[in-house]
Amino acid sequence: YTIAWDVAAAQKGGYDSFMAKEIHEQATAVADTLRGRIDSGALHLDEMSIDESVLRSIDKIIVVACGTAANAGNVAKYAIEHWCRIPTEVELAHEFRYRDPIVTEKTLVVAISQSGETMDTLMAMRHAQEQGAKVVAICNTYGSTIPREADAALYLHVGPEIAVASTKAYLGQITACYLLGLYLAQVRGNLFPDEIAALMEDLEQLPAHVQTVLDGAGAVEELARSMKDTTSVLFLGRHVGYPTALEGALKLKEIAYIHAEGFAAGELKHGPIALVDEGQPVFVIVPSPRGRDSLHSKVVSNIQEVRARGARTLVIAEEGDEDVLPYSDVVLRVPATRTLFAPLLTVIPLQIFSCALAAAKGLDVDQPRNLAKSVTVE
Ligand code: G6P
Repeated sequence: YTIAWDVAAAQKGGYDSFMAKEIHEQATAVADTLRGRIDSGALHLDEMSIDESVLRSIDKIIVVACGTAANAGNVAKYAIEHWCRIPTEVELAHEFRYRDPIVTEKTLVVAISQSGETMDTLMAMRHAQEQGAKVVAICNTYGSTIPREADAALYLHVGPEIAVASTKAYLGQITACYLLGLYLAQVRGNLFPDEIAALMEDLEQLPAHVQTVLDGAGAVEELARSMKDTTSVLFLGRHVGYPTALEGALKLKEIAYIHAEGFAAGELKHGPIALVDEGQPVFVIVPSPRGRDSLHSKVVSNIQEVRARGARTLVIAEEGDEDVLPYSDVVLRVPATRTLFAPLLTVIPLQIFSCALAAAKGLDVDQPRNLAKSVTVE
């Protein structure tokens, strides 16, 4: 008498793939990254082993990363510049290294890497350290090379990520970047303690909001299955919706092998709109209508523009946002949150979409062709 026992299937905990499992672990992932780092409204990053006087002297931040981690860095730029008023650049690590970048002792380099072993990111970070910069690593893998060589390491604590395409580490990376940004604002006095406490309070609501989005996965999966013969998808966003558009496109390329491009919506009229013709699917990430002036209405106009040229508009918008309805073929809802925190929510339907579409095509979701989880060559 034997029982059929498939170790891999057991590890997937009832999901068809590790990617699906990891997508559904994201409420926990965000909570795990936040855990133990907030106490009565103040931030405690004990692992920030860089002298506060050094952090106060920083006049520039450069984020170096590759792939999905670079998209997390692009979200970080908006938050850090807004809260800390420190000029922040995000650079693909392999480009940074070879362009003779301007780095001084007053530069803080933030190296983001799930694996902590990406060679391009490691080389970029070493190059910065040689010029006197301090490096904070934002990583998931304990004891890996990048956090070991960094001056300080912020770990995500989201657990091992098995699928090649990154999902829960992406949410952890963005969350860790928020913590770093708020910590810098706290140390440098850019925000009042009550402002930081209010932001932290909203941040702590995010795991519940992530779960709400995950609970709506069924509708997204159905949409993905209906689009399994699609050959090209465009993604548009502004502000923090822009890196989200890039990440949505990257996911679809990585695992579903579909031509996909993310654009800053304002750039449409400068070229990409020429790609739009009858039936072209276009995802649009819409910012909160309660957020920054005109950002929301600008994106609604962009939906109109592509729809007028025949696009099929797949719109990700906040609960209760009715302005998008006249121009949307499909609306996927996310709970209301601050504009800067929305990337933790709006990317989730895009992850679910890629995962379900790749599965519907019969592809190996966890092991996409030509890709490796960790790229340890230059
Ligand atoms: C590889 C993976 C990507 C990942 C990138 C950066 O290309 O396929 O999913 O985003 O490396 O990896 P890291 O471990 O540095 O975050």
